[in-house]
Amino acid sequence: MSSSAEQTRQHQHPHPHPFRPWKLLFFIIAALTTLVFSPISLSLSSNFHPKTFKHIFQRNTLNTPDSTTNISHIVFGIAGSAKTWPKRRPFVELWWQPNVTRGFLWLDQAPPENQTWPATSPPFRVSGNTSSFKYTCWYGNRSAIRIARIVKESFELGLGNVRWFVMGDDDTEFFIDNLVTVLSKYDHNQMYYIGGNSESVEQDVIHSYKVAYGGGGFAISHPLAVELSRILDGCIDRYAQLYGGDQKVQACISEIGVQITKEVGFHQVDVRGNPFGLLAAHPVAPLVSLHHLDTVDQLFPTLTKFESIRKLIGSYNMDPGRVLEHTFCYDLMRNWTFSVSWGYSVQLYSSLVTAKELETAFGTFDTWRSSSDGPFVFNTRSVSNDPCQRPLLYFLDRVDTAGLGQTRSSYMKHVDALGKDCGRVDLVGVMEVQLVNVSAPYFTPDLWKKAPRRQCCEIINGTEGVDNVVQIIIRGCHRFESVTPP
Ligand SMILES: *[C@@H]1O[C@H](CO)[C@@H](O)[C@H](O)[C@H]1NC(C)=O
Ligand SMILES: *[C@@H]1O[C@H](CO)[C@@H](O)[C@H](O)[C@H]1NC(C)=O
Ligand SMILES: *[C@@H]1O[C@H](CO)[C@@H](O)[C@H](O)[C@H]1NC(C)=O
Ligand SMILES: *[C@@H]1O[C@H](CO)[C@@H](O)[C@H](O)[C@H]1NC(C)=O
Ligand SMILES: *[C@@H]1O[C@H](CO)[C@@H](O)[C@H](O)[C@H]1NC(C)=O
Ligand SMILES: *[C@@H]1O[C@H](CO)[C@@H](O)[C@H](O)[C@H]1NC(C)=O
Ligand SMILES: *[C@@H]1O[C@H](CO)[C@@H](O)[C@H](O)[C@H]1NC(C)=O
Ligand SMILES: *[C@@H]1O[C@H](CO)[C@@H](O)[C@H](O)[C@H]1NC(C)=O
Repeated sequence: MSSSAEQTRQHQHPHPHPFRPWKLLFFIIAALTTLVFSPISLSLSSNFHPKTFKHIFQRNTLNTPDSTTNISHIVFGIAGSAKTWPKRRPFVELWWQPNVTRGFLWLDQAPPENQTWPATSPPFRVSGNTSSFKYTCWYGNRSAIRIARIVKESFELGLGNVRWFVMGDDDTEFFIDNLVTVLSKYDHNQMYYIGGNSESVEQDVIHSYKVAYGGGGFAISHPLAVELSRILDGCIDRYAQLYGGDQKVQACISEIGVQITKEVGFHQVDVRGNPFGLLAAHPVAPLVSLHHLDTVDQLFPTLTKFESIRKLIGSYNMDPGRVLEHTFCYDLMRNWTFSVSWGYSVQLYSSLVTAKELETAFGTFDTWRSSSDGPFVFNTRSVSNDPCQRPLLYFLDRVDTAGLGQTRSSYMKHVDALGKDCGRVDLVGVMEVQLVNVSAPYFTPDLWKKAPRRQCCEIINGTEGVDNVVQIIIRGCHRFESVTPP
C-alpha cells in the first residue's frame, strides 16, 4: 500500500517545486502581510498553501499585532469582603491607579448604599451566589469558592484587549511596573499560570508546591482563562475538600494539564514576626508583590505598618526595577563589607563577609502556621545574640533623583531597641558611620530581560573630615568582576 501511494504521489508531482503562479501570488501577499502586520516569523518557503494564508489573514484582521504588554492588558481581580474592605482600602489604594489599572474588587455583599464609592478605589462587583457549591474542608471557610470563581467572573465580563488576569487579595501590595516587566517575558497567546509558593515549607506540604498562592497573587493568560472558565464550576465540587480558592483554581488548571511557572518576585509572605531578613535578601528578580503586610511587623522599625509600605513604595516609584535589589561591596581600606538592599536598608559588617553568606536571608521571622524557625523554601542564617557579631543596620531615610538617569538614596543608622552597640574598641571606626549614601543608575526593564546577575558597587573615599558618611556607587559589573576577598 505505502509503496503504491508513494508512486502515485511521485507521478502527480514529477518535480519537487513545480511553478504555480497562484502560489507565487499568495506567497507575495502573505510575505507583505507578515511584514506589515505580524512580528511572528512564519516559514513560507516549503509547505505554504491557501489554508495557511487564510489563517494568517484572519488572525491579522481580528487582532492588532502583538505589541509589548503594558498595564492596560492586565485585568485585576481583587478578593475582598464588605467587612474587611474599610481596613484594607488604604493599602490597596497605595498601588491601585484609577484610569491606569483595570479590574475589580470582588465583594461578598454590596457595601452600604448610603456611601459613595470613592474614585480612588478599584470599582467593585458583588460575587455570584455560591450556595449551590460543595465545601467540605472542616478547618476552612466557604468564601474560598467565591474567591476561586473570581477569575471566571472576571473573564465573563468580556472586557477587550485582556492578555492577563491577575488575582490578588485585598491585603496584597502589587508593584505594577514590575508585574508588567515579568509578564511581558511570556507569550500571552499561550496558556500560562504564573506565581509563587508559600515561603513556609509546612504550608507547601499541606497546600501543595504546585499552587501559585493567592495572596502573593497569580497571573492567568487569556487563553488559559478561556479554558479554565469552561470547567471551573463543575471542577469546584470535585475539589470540595481543598481549603483555599487558590488551591481549587490550581486543581482545575491541573485538569487542563497546565503547570505553575514560578516567578520569585511574587511574595505570599507566609511568615510571622520581623520580615527584615526576607526583604533584605531579595532574589535577583523584580519585586512583584508583597502580601500580609498587616500581619508581619512593620518593615521600617521607626514607622507604622502603613507608613512603612508607603516609604517602600516611595523607593519603588523612584526606580521600580531596582527596589530591594541586593548589592555587595568591600571597603578594602578598612576590611568592611556593605550589603545594600536598595530603597530599604544597608548592612555594614566590620569584616569581609562572603557573597554566599550575604545573599542568605537572616532568619528574623517564623513560619506562618506553627511559628517555628523554619524550614522555609530558601536558606536562612541565624542572627547572633552578640552585637559585635551582627552587622550595623541602616534604614532608608530619603531617595531622590540625581539627574542623568540616576537616583541618590541615603540610609540612616538604626540603633536597635536594646540600644546595645558593640563596645569593642577596635570596632569604634565602624560605629561612627551614621549615614550611607548610595547613588545608582535606573534599573530599566531592559536589564531584567538579560540573564539575572547581581549588580556591583564600589565605595568612594570619604571627604576629608566627613568620617561618618560612606558613599557607595552601584553600577553594572565589569567583565571578570566578582565579590572576592583578597
Ligand atoms: C498599551 O498597548 C496598547 C497596544 O496594545 C496601546 O494602544 C496602549 O496605548 C498602551 N497603553 C499604555 C498605557 O502604554
Ligand atoms: C478617570 O477618567 C475619567 C474620564 O476620563 C475622569 O473623569 C476621572 O476624573 C479620572 N479619574 C481619576 C481619579 O483620575
Ligand atoms: C449609613 O447608614 C448606616 C445605617 O444604615 C449608618 O450607621 C451610617 O452612619 C451611614 N453612613 C453614612 C456615611 O451616612
Ligand atoms: C443564594 O441562593 C440560595 C438558593 O439557591 C438562596 O437561598 C439564597 O438566599 C441566595 N443568597 C443570596 C445572597 O442571594
Ligand atoms: C468566613 O469568612 C467570612 C469573611 O470572608 C466571615 O464573615 C465569616 O464569618 C467566615 N465564616 C466562618 C465560619 O469562619
Ligand atoms: C585586611 O585583611 C587582610 C587579610 O585578609 C590583612 O592583611 C590586612 O592587614 C587587613 N587590613 C586592615 C586595614 O585591617
Ligand atoms: C548624603 O545624603 C544626604 C541626603 O541626601 C545629603 O544631605 C548629604 O549631603 C549626603 N552626604 C554626602 C557626604 O554626600
Ligand atoms: C582611596 O584612597 C586610597 C588612599 O587613601 C587610594 O589608595 C584609593 O585608590 C582610593 N580609592 C578610590 C576609589 O578613590
